[in-house]
Amino acid sequence: MPKSKYNIALPPGYGPPVKAVKTPSPREQLAYGKYLADIGHCMECHTPRDGKGMLQMASVGAGGQVFKGPWGQSISRNLTPHETGLKGWSDAQIAKAVREGVNREGKPYHPPMAFGFYKNIKDADMAALIAYLRSLKPQATAGARS
Ligand code: HEC
Repeated sequence: MPKSKYNIALPPGYGPPVKAVKTPSPREQLAYGKYLADIGHCMECHTPRDGKGMLQMASVGAGGQVFKGPWGQSISRNLTPHETGLKGWSDAQIAKAVREGVNREGKPYHPPMAFGFYKNIKDADMAALIAYLRSLKPQATAGARS
């Protein structure tokens, strides 16, 4: 394949364009769970952003992003295994929240999380996703909610 030509100046150290993301084997449960979280964009909403809108990857999963819309306001939840996150949640409760968009009391969540989009996640994939969430560094909820 010929080398890519760019008509704009690229920053120094810019690598070749990413063509495909390697899919980890489902047998590598944590890597596979992270991959599912990446393609599901979970952490883009569930990680706090700084004043410039950059994701604070040191606090990955700590929640606290505010979303305003016709529904009023919703704040992304803390998905880390901290007391203010999912520590006290069973796997079944997390799976139900993601698939059905309801909390532990059965009350529906507000947008923008696209719960309908996640409702067909297979059990093995959900288990990998939950294993990944449980492997995150426990952190207190970021931002507005504590
Ligand atoms: C577009 C933004 C967005 C994306 C993408 C997103 N979420 Fe959410 N999520 C939210 C918001 C906002 C809430 C809280 C809604 C509310 O309070 O009404 C939420 C709630 C949750 C809850 C409930 C937790 C609790 O403490 O009540 C779980 C679990 C969850 N999300 C997991 C995930 C997972 C796993 C993914 C990826 C598969 C994901 N989310 C993708 C925005 C998002």
